Amino acid sequence: MSQPQAALVTGAGGALGRAIASRLAADGHDVAVLDRDSASLEQTVEEVRKSGARVLPLTTDLRDAQAVEAAVERSASELGTLRVLVNNAAMYPSRPFLDVPLAEYEDVVAVNQRAYWVAAQAAARRMTGTGGGAIVNVASITMHGGWDSLAAYVSTKGAAVALTRALARELGPAEIRVNCVSPGAFPTAAEQIHDDPEAYTRHVLDHQALKRRGRAEELASAVSFLAGPDSSFVTGQCLEVNGGWVMA
Ligand SMILES: NC(=O)c1ccc[n+]([C@@H]2O[C@H](COP(=O)([O-])OP(=O)(O)OC[C@H]3O[C@@H](n4cnc5c(N)ncnc54)[C@H](O)[C@@H]3O)[C@@H](O)[C@H]2O)c1
Repeated sequence: MSQPQAALVTGAGGALGRAIASRLAADGHDVAVLDRDSASLEQTVEEVRKSGARVLPLTTDLRDAQAVEAAVERSASELGTLRVLVNNAAMYPSRPFLDVPLAEYEDVVAVNQRAYWVAAQAAARRMTGTGGGAIVNVASITMHGGWDSLAAYVSTKGAAVALTRALARELGPAEIRVNCVSPGAFPTAAEQIHDDPEAYTRHVLDHQALKRRGRAEELASAVSFLAGPDSSFVTGQCLEVNGGWVMA
């Protein structure tokens, strides 16, 4: 890539978001990294800077739609032409469906679904007429078969796939590609919702075709592919990155 171009990664304080941001920086992007947790974001900034890229940390709560729009604007105005958006942030409170308070459901939808919409809309406005770009939404293997006590989360992940298809069709004429990655089980903070980590690891390895845990960098490579020129004729797709757990 001759000129550095800007990418924005949400949820970049988490393990997968950090790996994605680092990979996009290694690919030649300047990277805006967004999270509400400034301490974990600072670690991401240090990591991403190692590749020599410019990094813009954005401490933002994705439940605030105006703040999401402002973050996209800052990414473009401070880093240059916005070419890539990765909607990666998520919250995943675990509770039986019958006990989920409405406010908790609304928070999950605000972060995992509405913020994907708002960021995509703001980014697409920037990408339209400036040569296009790539949007990658992060879904989840759980959307295929559900998962106990994660109904709100699972439903938003299904929405991420449907949004991907809808936007791919509508934004294609502007040469904006919209794809999705669907991670399987990666050992990140997200696994802390499981009471017995060893039993969960056994469960994961029993189900995967590959008998080892996935690495965050392996998800980041899939995002890099979908964000970059090697996938220039790929849009509206969801790439399963799960070691062969679900073969969709
Ligand atoms: N780890 C896995 O096994 C797995 C499996 C399937 C899907 N995923 C998906 O991968 C993505 C990354 O997950 P992860 O494992 O790195 O989880 P993580 O919890 O480590 O990272 C998520 C990040 O999102 C941020 N976030 C949450 N609410 C926010 C808000 N209101 N405003 C701003 N930031 C907010 C968190 O602070 C956190 O840094 C998520 O979309 C998740 O659903 C992960």
